[in-house]
Amino acid sequence: MSDAKTSQGLVLEEVRRTFQQGKETLEVLRGAHLNIRPGEIVALVGPSGAGKSTLLHIAGLLERPDAGEVRLAGQAAGGLSEGERTRLRRLHLGFVYQYHHLLPEFSAVENVILPQMIAGASKAKAKTRALDLLTRMGLAERAEHRPGQLSGGEQQRVAICRALANAPRVLLADEPTGNLDPHTSDGVFAELIALVRGSGVAALIATHNPELARRMDRIIRLEDGLLVDGGAK
Ligand SMILES: Nc1ncnc2c1ncn2[C@@H]1O[C@H](COP(=O)(O)OP(=O)(O)O)[C@@H](O)[C@H]1O
Ligand SMILES: [Mg+2]
Repeated sequence: MSDAKTSQGLVLEEVRRTFQQGKETLEVLRGAHLNIRPGEIVALVGPSGAGKSTLLHIAGLLERPDAGEVRLAGQAAGGLSEGERTRLRRLHLGFVYQYHHLLPEFSAVENVILPQMIAGASKAKAKTRALDLLTRMGLAERAEHRPGQLSGGEQQRVAICRALANAPRVLLADEPTGNLDPHTSDGVFAELIALVRGSGVAALIATHNPELARRMDRIIRLEDGLLVDGGAK
């Protein structure tokens, strides 16, 4: 990469992915290019089945593309072993899914502490950061509650805190408010954007809500396997 700062975010180069469905070959990604700089929040839009989740899984190093390269925080992931990819993912990536996937037997604060301890932080330091994140998401009073005692919006707020717990360089979110009612979705989304804005993370957020997409810095559309940049707003 010629632009060193650019490469500190998320870069996709010529990413291709096909699936075999019976006799049919489905070309979901046909050479996708993407460059998200630190501090930039980008909406990924496109109809259901366009390949948004596939793209996020590849960008998140959960799957390998058939061809092309993913660069994360300046490091090319293609040539790395599974162990090295896991390490890169733990250090530099946060992921928010449509469903929260919190650990049900742990409290909210413990769910945000755990990934930090797995990454090597002390429990005391991890707890301070977890409480700070939860407080910024308006969840100070809910820190000791288990996921089952929280509302859907609160669960998703905790999942967002967990994704940002290790101060990743890149945040990926796959329709993070897709399971919430419109009013709750609106609030959670506003808080997500506020938290991300202050963090300098490069964020790629899939949504099929055009109103939410317009609140981001840039909109990228997945169309016929290619990414079409809507340009800066
Ligand atoms: N593991 C898989 N095997 C076969 N087909 C798949 C697989 N994953 C996704 N697909 C297909 O790829 C297309 C894109 O899926 P997806 O990435 O989930 O789209 P989106 O998130 O935009 O709705 C869909 O047609 C889907 O059926
Ligand atoms: Mg999807």
